[in-house]
Amino acid sequence: MTILVTGGAGFIGANFVLDWLEHCDEPVINLDKLTYAGNLHNLDSLQGDVRYIFVQGDIGDRALVDKLLAAHQPRAIINFAAESHVDRSIHGPEDFIQTNVVGTFRLLEAARHYWQAQADASKNIFRFLHVSTDEVYGTLAHDAPAFTEDHKIEPNSPYSASKAASDHLVRAWHHTYGLPVLTTNCSNNYGPLHFPEKLIPLIIVNALAGKNLPVYGDGMQIRDWLYVRDHCSAIRRVLDTGRLGETYNIGGWNEKPNIEIVQTVCRLLDQLRPRTDGQGYETQITYVKDRPGHDRRYAIDARKIERELGWKPAETFDTGIRKTVQWYLDHPEWVAQVQSGAYRDWVAKQYEDKSGTA
Ligand code: NAD
Ligand code: TYD
Repeated sequence: MTILVTGGAGFIGANFVLDWLEHCDEPVINLDKLTYAGNLHNLDSLQGDVRYIFVQGDIGDRALVDKLLAAHQPRAIINFAAESHVDRSIHGPEDFIQTNVVGTFRLLEAARHYWQAQADASKNIFRFLHVSTDEVYGTLAHDAPAFTEDHKIEPNSPYSASKAASDHLVRAWHHTYGLPVLTTNCSNNYGPLHFPEKLIPLIIVNALAGKNLPVYGDGMQIRDWLYVRDHCSAIRRVLDTGRLGETYNIGGWNEKPNIEIVQTVCRLLDQLRPRTDGQGYETQITYVKDRPGHDRRYAIDARKIERELGWKPAETFDTGIRKTVQWYLDHPEWVAQVQSGAYRDWVAKQYEDKSGTA
C-alpha cells in the first residue's frame, strides 16, 4: 500500500514524511509545488530511499493528480499543502484562495473520482485526511473555555478564512458524495524544519544574528503550542482509527503568551550559546506595531482525540522547545540555505513598516 502526502516539503509535511518512514515501510508519494515554503533539503535524509517518491506539482492541477492517483493507487491522501502564514495572507490573500480553497476543491474532486472507481475492498479502506488549524474557530476571550470541535467557525484572517472554507468543502464532500474524510484542527506547531517567518524560528535565527526580536503589540496574545512530531503522531492515529466524517482537535494543553515564548527562547540561548558580550538575548526584544486583526487567544480542548482515539502528546513544552533550539544551533547550514534572497525580501517588507514600538 501507499499514501499520497501533499505539501510534504513544508514544515509539518516534511516532519510527517520523516516520522511516517521511521514508523513503517509503507511508501510515500510527496506532491509539493515547492513554493517559497517548500524545501527539498528537509528530506535530504531520504535520498536513495525506495519508499519515497517526490513529485513537484500543484494540488490544483487535476490532470497531474489524476495521473498520480492512477499510477500509485494510494490508500490515503493526507493534505498538508497550503499557504500557511497569516502575515503573508494579509499582504496578499490571492494565493491563499487559490491553494487553500480552489486547490483543496480540485484535490477533493480528483479523490472522489478515484475513490468512486475503486473496487469495494479498496473503497472501504480509502481515507482523505485534511490537515487544518485551530485558527478557523477565531479568537477566544481570556477566560473562555478552549475550542472544542463544536465551537462556531469564526475565522478572522484571510488565512484562517481560506482554511475554514477548505474544511467546509471537505465536510460537504463527505456529506454529499460519501467520500471517507477526516479533518484535524491543530494548534500552533513548533520544532525542527520550521521556516523562520513564524514566531519561534524567527526569534531563534534573529537572536543568533544579533537582530531585533520583534514582538507584535503588547506580546500578550496567547497561542497553544504543540511539538511538531506530536502533531504527526496524532495524524497517524486519526488516519488509523478516526471515525469517518469527524473532526479532531489536536493540541498540547500548552497555552502561553508570545512574550513568554520569546523570553524562554532567549533564556535557552543564553545557556546553550551565550552572547560573547556577556549580555542576555532579551536585550534584543523590540515591541513593534501589531498585526491587523490579530487574534488574541487560541486554545485547544483535545479531550475528544484522547477519549476516542487514546492520543496524547509525548513532549512537554520544556522538552520540545529545548530540542527545537538545539536543532537550530546544530543546523546552521539549513538556516543559511532558507535565508535566500526571497526570504530577505519578505523580512524587509514585513518588518520595515513595523519599526518603532507598538
Ligand atoms: P508550510 O507553509 O511550511 O508548508 C506548506 C507546503 O505546501 C510547502 O511545502 C509548499 O511548497 C506546499 N504547497 C503550497 N501550495 C501548494 C500547492 N498549491 N500544491 C502543492 N503544494 C503546495 O506549512 P506548514 O506549517 O507545514 O502547514 C502544513 C499544514 O498544516 C497547512 O495546511 C496548515 O494550514 C496546517 N497547520 C499548520 C500549523 C502550524 O502551526 N504551522 C498548525 C495547524 C495546522
Ligand atoms: P505565527 O508564528 O505567525 O503563527 P500564527 O499567527 O499562525 O499563530 O505567530 C505566532 C504569534 O506570534 C502570533 O500571535 C503573532 C506573533 N508574532 C510576533 O509577535 N512577532 C513576529 O515576528 C511573528 C512572526 C509573530
